[in-house]
Amino acid sequence: MEIKKVAVIVGSLRKESFNRKVANEMIRLAPEGLELNIVEIKDLTFFSEDIENDPPQEWLNFKQKISDSDAVIFVSPEYNRTIPGVLKNAMEIGARPPKLNSWKGKPGAVVTVSPGAIGGLGSNQTIRIAASNVHISVMAQPEAYIGGIKDKLLEDGVTVDEKTEKFLVTFLEAFKAWTEKF
Ligand code: FNR
Repeated sequence: MEIKKVAVIVGSLRKESFNRKVANEMIRLAPEGLELNIVEIKDLTFFSEDIENDPPQEWLNFKQKISDSDAVIFVSPEYNRTIPGVLKNAMEIGARPPKLNSWKGKPGAVVTVSPGAIGGLGSNQTIRIAASNVHISVMAQPEAYIGGIKDKLLEDGVTVDEKTEKFLVTFLEAFKAWTEKF
């Protein structure tokens, strides 16, 4: 069976990030044929056009990891109802210069996680727009807004409850089918 490599980008740099916890659960729950790995964004300096043609090594390393992946999943919080700056920065770095857009043509998906009730809806929608504009083909359905995350983690603080686990499995199966169209 062909294995699809999926780059998972976590839109939070927080040590105890709920989004990272959910991303790790997705890695654990991935179906056969999907291999998920987190690609870190914490070492990326701010994007500037002044250096895009002579980029720092950490940009090149990031772009190479994206290029080497068959697909991408963003797992992100919502900041002020939109996309966190660190994630948007990573998207610019991946996309530039235009002839070396590392995201181009890849199937993608968006998961947003929040302690709040609406699960980062605003962030999810804005990440979809940004991802589409860097030529990622974003899976439309199912959508993944994981709200009230504090109540969905078990006592160990890292494992999601049964209902959330089932949802993530369904989501990942759908994403696997989506990647197979490319
Ligand atoms: C937030 N938070 C937040 N939550 C939300 O549901 N909608 C929002 O618009 C915002 N806005 C916001 C702005 C900023 C600057 C911060 C720091 C936080 C709360 C946020 O969901 C919460 O801190 C999460 O725990 C962040 O995700 P991680 O770091 O746990 O993955």
